[in-house]
Amino acid sequence: MGRRDHVVVGLDIGTTKICAVVAEMTEDGTVNIIGVGSSPSRGLKKGVVVDIDLTVDSIKKAVEEAELMTGGQINAVYTGIAGSHISVAQARGVLALKRQEVTRQDVDRVMEQVRAGIMVEPGREILHVIPREFVVDDQDGVREPLGMSGARLAVEAHIITGAVTSVQNISKSVNRAGLDVVEIVLQPLASSEAVLSSEERDLGVAMVDLGGGTTDLAIFVDGSIRHTAVLPIGGQNLTKDIAIGLLTSQTEAEKIKIKHGIARVDLVNDGDMVEVPSAGDRPARTIARRELALVIEPRVEEMFELVRDEINHAGYDGRLGAGVVITGGTSMLEGMPDAAERVLNLPARRGVPTGVEGLREIAGTPMHATAVGLILHACHHMGDLESAGRGGRRVGRAFGRMRQMLQEFF
Ligand SMILES: Nc1ncnc2c1ncn2[C@@H]1O[C@H](COP(=O)(O)OP(=O)(O)OP(=O)(O)O)[C@@H](O)[C@H]1O
Ligand SMILES: [Mg+2]
Repeated sequence: MGRRDHVVVGLDIGTTKICAVVAEMTEDGTVNIIGVGSSPSRGLKKGVVVDIDLTVDSIKKAVEEAELMTGGQINAVYTGIAGSHISVAQARGVLALKRQEVTRQDVDRVMEQVRAGIMVEPGREILHVIPREFVVDDQDGVREPLGMSGARLAVEAHIITGAVTSVQNISKSVNRAGLDVVEIVLQPLASSEAVLSSEERDLGVAMVDLGGGTTDLAIFVDGSIRHTAVLPIGGQNLTKDIAIGLLTSQTEAEKIKIKHGIARVDLVNDGDMVEVPSAGDRPARTIARRELALVIEPRVEEMFELVRDEINHAGYDGRLGAGVVITGGTSMLEGMPDAAERVLNLPARRGVPTGVEGLREIAGTPMHATAVGLILHACHHMGDLESAGRGGRRVGRAFGRMRQMLQEFF
């Protein structure tokens, strides 16, 4: 199994399940999944923690399962955040270069300047400041300014903020489960790390994570993040619609959805039938699968219409050369890529987590995109910190914390 000194844990606190994925990073840079634990989530609504005790219980169960599988103790995690409270803005920073050449310190300083210049509304906090592109003198579209000659360095950055209370409820839940939080990462960013290729990011792509309570969107163009959004609609809406439409319980509706659900009516074979178990005083019955599809199709269309409106509103229609990548549990519904293509008028594919080895059969499902993405984010982050060396107090501190976390594990 190789050395275990570079172990990272991704804890995805989702609306329907909480899962912990444990990975080790080997010396050659391979990311090996060595354990996964999952537990139903009961303390969240639409991506946001609404009951800390229930969330703590689910976190503990998921983490215990992952610990059993790996035989090690988990002390610290990377975790995600989502919900309608998330918002994005753009900001700019400019700096005169002292030495006519961009150094690591210049990049850190210009990023600090962006951060310092942001007016954060009361009750909100900054989750991420991501450089979108650098401008060296008049040369725009620079991705890596280090070493470039010039007199002036500017940066266009993507600022992601969230409600302080929602961020605190995530930290509180994780802490009360006996774990430290290394970093809280926006869920759509994490999922994007796991399912998108760099070619897709270059060509222009929309990553759509269709979860249980939320639909997360992240748009990349020319290799960098352009827009993110968290929409309050997901697979639970489908389950509710099926329960109402077929007059059955939510538990049965969930089972029917997973076994027979289909996103488009015209994909159903004539004669396909579905068994609806008895509910209350209604006897079990058999219905045409088409009837089930008629319940599902409009809600799926609504999901993708909301995504389309968000893409258009942000000004990225016509700029997504690589189309759409759908992931998350609800993307597993039969016919989902077809439904996405029809509404968005873009090519669509299902995205499973890639870039990892090990327990691929367990980790390689769209439901684990966020957790695996958290691990990949952590690994990239670690690479950045290592290449940044000891420059900057903040970086040094984060690096120290990371080392401590790695030492504590196993
Ligand atoms: N085969 C399937 N067909 C249709 N839906 C499915 C299938 N498998 C899982 N789902 C649905 O996927 C949803 C869970 O997806 P996921 O695990 O990505 O959500 P989550 O992370 O818990 O929630 P969120 O990201 O919204 O907070 C559930 O609504 C579930 O019914
Ligand atoms: Mg999710």
